[in-house]
Amino acid sequence: MAEVRLENVRKGYGEALAVDDLSLTIADGEFVALVGPSGCGKTTTLNMIAGLLELDGGEISIDGRRVNDLDPKDRDIAMVFQNYALYPNKSVRKNLAFPLQMRGMARGEIARRVDEAARMLDIGHLLERRPRELSGGQQQRVALGRALVREPKVFLMDEPLSNLDAKLRVQMRSELKRFHQDLKATIVYVTHDQLEAMTMADRMAVMHGGKLQQYDTPERVYAHPANAFVASFVGSPAMNLIPARLTETGIAGDGWQLALPPALLARARQAGSAGVLLGVRHGAIGLLPAATPGAVEARVLTVEPTGDITFLNLRLGESALVASAAPDRHFTPGQPLWLEFDMARLHLFDAASELAL
Ligand SMILES: Nc1ncnc2c1ncn2[C@@H]1O[C@H](COP(=O)(O)OP(=O)(O)O)[C@@H](O)[C@H]1O
Ligand SMILES: [Mg+2]
Repeated sequence: MAEVRLENVRKGYGEALAVDDLSLTIADGEFVALVGPSGCGKTTTLNMIAGLLELDGGEISIDGRRVNDLDPKDRDIAMVFQNYALYPNKSVRKNLAFPLQMRGMARGEIARRVDEAARMLDIGHLLERRPRELSGGQQQRVALGRALVREPKVFLMDEPLSNLDAKLRVQMRSELKRFHQDLKATIVYVTHDQLEAMTMADRMAVMHGGKLQQYDTPERVYAHPANAFVASFVGSPAMNLIPARLTETGIAGDGWQLALPPALLARARQAGSAGVLLGVRHGAIGLLPAATPGAVEARVLTVEPTGDITFLNLRLGESALVASAAPDRHFTPGQPLWLEFDMARLHLFDAASELAL
């Protein structure tokens, strides 16, 4: 296994930079998710690590060795794609063995590796079948197996679960996580799905417009988003971001005001922000039935029960926001509610730079 290091990596198509000065170190044995909306540069990044695309600038090293000019086949990596890319006319066993045969590996060693992968991925009973005789999840496991038999230093995966239905995706998520735990492999995993990144990765690299926004554990990215983009991208429903301005004692928006703890207020003052965005997740908003000191009045727009939790769309002045409540509470569209914000879980972002204050 190996460390993967990207330093100031750049790649453009024509005028636009698809990957803009990206520096990132994936530690030996670490599962890192590259995550961000479609078009943010994830696949471009992965393909540069794989050697399928040339860099316009910067450096990539694998296991301490500069690989910029190294052929993909010499980089000791294995890729898993969204569309499995299995050979339709070969059995599962041959799908697994073929890449090793192409490398001239001895028969005995190939058999050992295929058996080992089949055992690990629980596809031993499928080895004589052809891909079309497999379910989507089984095909995905075979695709993983084909990467596994290579015993690469690094696994590169590009949206490998995107073609599966929702239920299977959840199941494969935990299988992939176990795969990583068993193997202690270095994995770079591309996904547009923040939940996949949150649930599987040791660290997530959030990208937007070709630029790295934040690189940290899922817990810290969720609790301390570096900017408004990350705040709204990570977590579902998205964090509420409400425009406001600083006042003597806190913040105010259209028709509402909120006193802030002095430390938070001081931080915002120090940054010299004129306008701010108040960031608050649905779970950090208490809903009170009557006016209470410190609480701000809002109005219920719609009520969305989901079973375990009920989401409410509310109007606060000119802003809309989402709050949540236990399913046994009842709300009526149009009714007033008083919002009590959990001060320890409030975020402020500068309205101009969108950076966390
Ligand atoms: N072959 C290409 N030619 C021109 N533009 C491309 C090409 N591949 C990707 N791009 C552009 O580069 C940006 C990043 O693409 P990509 O890395 O595929 O994003 P992601 O995988 O995050 O969806 C996008 O704006 C995309 O349109
Ligand atoms: Mg992509």
